Amino acid sequence: WFDAHADGRLKGQHVLVTAGPTHEPLDPVRYIANRSSGKQGYAIARALAKMGAKVTLVTGPTGLAPPAGVETVKVETARQMLAACEAALPADCAVCCAAVADYRPQIETEHKIKKERGGLSAIPLSENPDILRTLSNHDTARPRLVIGFAAETDDVIGHADAKRKRKGCDWIVANDVSPGTGTMGGDNNTVTILSEDGEEEWDNMPKAAVAGRLADKIADTLLKG
Ligand code: CTP
Ligand code: CA
Repeated sequence: WFDAHADGRLKGQHVLVTAGPTHEPLDPVRYIANRSSGKQGYAIARALAKMGAKVTLVTGPTGLAPPAGVETVKVETARQMLAACEAALPADCAVCCAAVADYRPQIETEHKIKKERGGLSAIPLSENPDILRTLSNHDTARPRLVIGFAAETDDVIGHADAKRKRKGCDWIVANDVSPGTGTMGGDNNTVTILSEDGEEEWDNMPKAAVAGRLADKIADTLLKG
């Protein structure tokens, strides 16, 4: 497998990584979230640090231990994640692995919602900021290399390539998260890297190996100039 090389190739480079889900509060005891485990993002942060990069990991709630040698910033909501990313700039590269909640409840009450006080029949939502799109289109501090992930269940490559163009990032790491693939929460991943230059399909491998190989590809690209 492709393990990250502890060769210091990325010394002097700052890489920003987002990981995990976001939690969007509804009241003090409830939130909207998703099934992201954060494993792939943490593995990428670890691999980049092993190669000598200065890594800022902005992470939603995961329960994973912060990787050694990585500046880890813990956040809960999409808006906090965006603010932490902006605060971490400038960066040479940004890798957006987080499964950011697309929407947040319009209301956040300070009191627990109670059935006997009318409860809820619907939750009005507002759209969250898009961190990957914001970094890709940053007018003063766009990282030289911006990488997004696309977890899809149907027409994986088609949706992922459209996403890359729509968001303005350089690469999209596409993965199939259909039930049965075991990708969500699992330890392995099958990905295809999409860029302007075409697509590169990688075999199924442990998330740590995907991370090592991606860190290697990032180093090749950043050091090329
Ligand atoms: N992303 C982000 N901020 C958001 C939503 C997504 O930074 N508010 C990033 C993710 O980290 C990922 C990429 O955008 O790198 C694609 O996320 P995805 O949820 O697949 O894209 P969406 O545009 O939200 O489309 P979809 O309707 O498929 O969820
Ligand atoms: Ca989304």
